[in-house]
Amino acid sequence: KPRLYSGMQPSADSLQAGNYIGALLQWRDMQSSYDAFFSVVDLHAITVAQDPAVLREKTRRTAAQYIAAGIEPSKSTLYVQSHVRAHAELAWILSTITGFGEANRMTQFKDKSSRFGADATSVGLFTYPVLMAADILLYQSELVPVGDDQKQHVELTRDLAERFNSRFGETFTVPTPVIQKETARIYDLQNPTSKMSKSAESDAGVLWLLDDPAKSAKKIMRAVTDTEGSVRFDRENKPGVSNLLTIYAALSGRQMESIEDEYAGRGYGDFKKGLAEVIVSEFGPVRDRANELLADPAELDRVLATNAAKADAVADATLADVYDRVGLLRRV
Ligand code: TYM
Repeated sequence: KPRLYSGMQPSADSLQAGNYIGALLQWRDMQSSYDAFFSVVDLHAITVAQDPAVLREKTRRTAAQYIAAGIEPSKSTLYVQSHVRAHAELAWILSTITGFGEANRMTQFKDKSSRFGADATSVGLFTYPVLMAADILLYQSELVPVGDDQKQHVELTRDLAERFNSRFGETFTVPTPVIQKETARIYDLQNPTSKMSKSAESDAGVLWLLDDPAKSAKKIMRAVTDTEGSVRFDRENKPGVSNLLTIYAALSGRQMESIEDEYAGRGYGDFKKGLAEVIVSEFGPVRDRANELLADPAELDRVLATNAAKADAVADATLADVYDRVGLLRRV
């Protein structure tokens, strides 16, 4: 089976709907057809300040949400990035073939560093995409399913793989990003032209996978729409309603047109009530399952350890080859 790789940061207690719809649903659907590796990228999370005890907990919670959403740890290799030492080691090697200007063109870094200011921006945040390239390349991944905010990072990964291969000989598989057109970007409910994000300024626009369903329903009822009053998809002129339709279609598995038809001639109130029900029935079981898993952290840790051992074996083989190719003297 072709290899597939993806990951998420454990940067909040709960994943948000964009992570679930833009990434997890795809992972779940693809895992049977691919040799899939899914990591909880805790080394990426520490590029901004984290409370150590809280980070450990968020890492477990993120892993639990993967499993609760349908990623099967017996089928897919689901592990914690820091458990596999090769990630940090390959990132160092790749940083030596990454141009400073090239890294400096990453838009996510530019966004974040302009918000934090130069002194609060770590060098780790700058080299973040290089670590991401290491994640992907260690496993000789062919496909990388992500939301569209990660596309530029996967492009950089491709460039680094090609550069390394041409300088040192064929070593890495050059990966391809997989971006689902309809759901590549889920938007904030209050601000439907900016993406839904764990670090949004206001909580009112973010749907959390593990939130109390009544709270999520309330957020939907208060979501920004428009004054036209008709439920139809038009990203340009009706960003709020279009975003709600996207979420509705993705979570219910229905076609957009059938939803538009159902609510034709009815108000936004009805439409929002329908969407709130879809969210409660889709997120509810995921939340319950995640809480069950989190009630037995020792078992969860064991599953993660078994999978880390599988990941180690693949990653170590790639890293040994890389060390040889760049000319590092073997320790005998
Ligand atoms: P992260 O943790 O920010 O997000 C995880 C995944 O969720 C997608 N996503 C969204 N999709 C649609 N709409 C949204 N509003 C939305 N918000 C987030 C992201 O595109 C991503 O697919 N750097 C990565 C993690 C990473 C990684 C990797 C991914 C590290 N190493 C290797 C793939 C392969 C990140 O911060 O994702």
